[in-house]
Amino acid sequence: THNLLTYRPNLHFAPKENWMNDPNGMVYFKGEYHLFFQHNPNDSIHGPMHWGHAVSKDMISWEQLDIALYPDDLGTIFSGSAVVDWHNTSGFFPNEPGLVAIFTHHLHEEGKTPVQRQSLAFSSDQGRSWIKYEQNPVLVHETKVDFRDPKVMWHNDTNKWVMAVATGQTISFYSSLNLREWKFESEFGERMGSHDGVWECPDLFELPIIGKNESKWVLLVSIGDNPKLESGSRTQYFVGSFDGHRFTPHHKDIKWLDAGKDNYAGVSFSDIPEMDGRRIYLGWMSNWRYANKVPTYGWRSQMTLPRELQLQQKQDSYAVIQTPVKELDSYFSKSDSLGNVVVSDDSPFQLELNTPYFMFDFVMENVDAASYSITLHHTSDQITTLHIDTKKNLLLLDRSQSGKVDFSSNFTHVQTIELDCTATLKLCAVADSSSIEVFVNDGEYALTSLIYPDKICSKLSVSSEQGTINIVKGIISVPSE
Ligand code: FRU
Repeated sequence: THNLLTYRPNLHFAPKENWMNDPNGMVYFKGEYHLFFQHNPNDSIHGPMHWGHAVSKDMISWEQLDIALYPDDLGTIFSGSAVVDWHNTSGFFPNEPGLVAIFTHHLHEEGKTPVQRQSLAFSSDQGRSWIKYEQNPVLVHETKVDFRDPKVMWHNDTNKWVMAVATGQTISFYSSLNLREWKFESEFGERMGSHDGVWECPDLFELPIIGKNESKWVLLVSIGDNPKLESGSRTQYFVGSFDGHRFTPHHKDIKWLDAGKDNYAGVSFSDIPEMDGRRIYLGWMSNWRYANKVPTYGWRSQMTLPRELQLQQKQDSYAVIQTPVKELDSYFSKSDSLGNVVVSDDSPFQLELNTPYFMFDFVMENVDAASYSITLHHTSDQITTLHIDTKKNLLLLDRSQSGKVDFSSNFTHVQTIELDCTATLKLCAVADSSSIEVFVNDGEYALTSLIYPDKICSKLSVSSEQGTINIVKGIISVPSE
């Protein structure tokens, strides 16, 4: 029995109807978080793109508004960003500060090579209506066919706007005083990081290092699907420095933002008040490999939970860590607390659950078992298993029996994280109608995964094989009233 409600999330943004992909134009303004999104309002597969629009006070409950940007003579509306023009640098706002959207016009005329150019639109009524700039496009590329997804930020030290924009398999930086005229600064990425696919949806921001009075610059780069590889589309990041002109990475290794398959094209909010100080990110919770085929009816795709990003230093290396925003807490109340529960081969821990969504937070210690598993028993024959192999030091998520999986052979591949599994391990996960987001060791690793069970959970169990583990602390949270 498939209807619009089947698999519909409780805690995640999904469009009321039809297709969605990347989050766009995320900005905080006058007490509202704005989320625009790649939207095809006429079908539940990718097609002529518009910017859909939703607003929220807490980034968890969203109200979908009218479509913000429609295709026009210059093309359909691909991904991009939005900023508050506080000091009327653009000249669009003689009276009061307003919003400027910087997006890609994608023109694909029959028999011709597509053209991608950057354009502007502005709004003086908190994003409810938009005027496209009459001199669009504002930025074209002489040679590149792939030229898209501009992410604009205000750069304090140089007193300029800076745009990061995807240019094939590199990211280019431009600067501007007024958002209308752009000057090329530099191009980054040749022989750096992963080149498994086309580079898309960059984001550049400064991020404080936990416990230090220092920060580094982070560049997120999403990498399009490469049919030759199992992973599909995924997101890498670089940590380095940025002087307003040039980004310089501080490492040679490839860093992935998420170990799961379903977190792509994510970027961060602009204009979060300084008092708040957080860098908040969310991604499109899908994968180009099967996004057009996931078994939802009438609507397609949802976003990840909004996450706070921070930098963690370990020796000479920096890692982006991510945790769900604290606004999520009020959607939960504690249902069970455990301490020192010893699990062995013949005595698993089990808990009946019958809620539309839930969260668990376990701390595991004294592990001498060869492996152990945390299992979501959706129904009697549908399970999703988080399996920890202490011999191989591997955490893996198995969704091969999680419900509907037959729409793509790629969907059933396991998703893994390599880490020390015998040390204290903190495992936190948020499970909604059709997803599970796992955060390991306070967000050091994230694993984001879609699932399509008939029901999210009837029973949660922890079991071990060849030995014992101790759940030294465990909290299970269920929906608050
Ligand atoms: C990423 C992406 C962007 C593009 C948009 C089109 O998922 O391919 O590069 O702007 O989607 O919908």
